[in-house]
Amino acid sequence: MNKKITIAIDGYSSTGKSTIAKQLANQLGYVYVDSGAMYRAMTFFAMKNEFISKDHFDVTSLIENLDKAQLKFIYNPSIGFAEMYLNDENIEKAIRTLEVSNFVSQVAAISEVRKKLVTIQKEMGKNKGVVMDGRDIGTVVFTDAELKIFMTSSAETRAKRRFDELIEKGQEVSYDDVYTNVVDRDRVDTTRKDSPLVKADDAIEIDNSNLTKEEQFAIILKLVEEKLRDV
Ligand code: DC
Repeated sequence: MNKKITIAIDGYSSTGKSTIAKQLANQLGYVYVDSGAMYRAMTFFAMKNEFISKDHFDVTSLIENLDKAQLKFIYNPSIGFAEMYLNDENIEKAIRTLEVSNFVSQVAAISEVRKKLVTIQKEMGKNKGVVMDGRDIGTVVFTDAELKIFMTSSAETRAKRRFDELIEKGQEVSYDDVYTNVVDRDRVDTTRKDSPLVKADDAIEIDNSNLTKEEQFAIILKLVEEKLRDV
């Protein structure tokens, strides 16, 4: 019963992956890793160095400078989860803006970026006891994860959730811009050449359009308990 498993949670943008991943990690005493934060951090790095902007993307310079981006998660006990740091600067708030969201899928499509981040992610999960959420966790990062969940819900539901979240954080955004971002990211994330977002054959699909957070947690915790009985 003390054996630890690996839990991979993949799915479209704003399907509530991080909410369920954090709940599970808290309940089980596992480490939670938000792999999207790492792609957002690399996007922030690219923006800061002017490798990417509205009308240009200098992929070569980004690739040449990848080793200048040192990523770290540091646990913040006052909020109960780890925050993203880039070269010792806390960028947790900066990576959650719509501006970063608008560039992140382009940065995440670069194989060299993915290679760097997947290596770190595999290292973080090598002792199991990890819940990681993202787009390729069950298909690339932890292909042997004991439990793989694939989350879906309608684009409208997801855009409304993300819009409410950004407004609550005090950001000035319109619902239409958020909706466009959600649909654009779905398209780029599912059609990129390297590690596109697809459901792993052995993943369990959960459509949470009509589920409360509590119902969703109960369903997935039951799946975890079944897996823990098997190991
Ligand atoms: O989970 P998120 O919305 O914060 O992720 C931001 C983007 O990062 C997402 O649109 C695609 C990319 N991503 C990825 O390609 N692979 C992952 N494992 C996680 C995120």
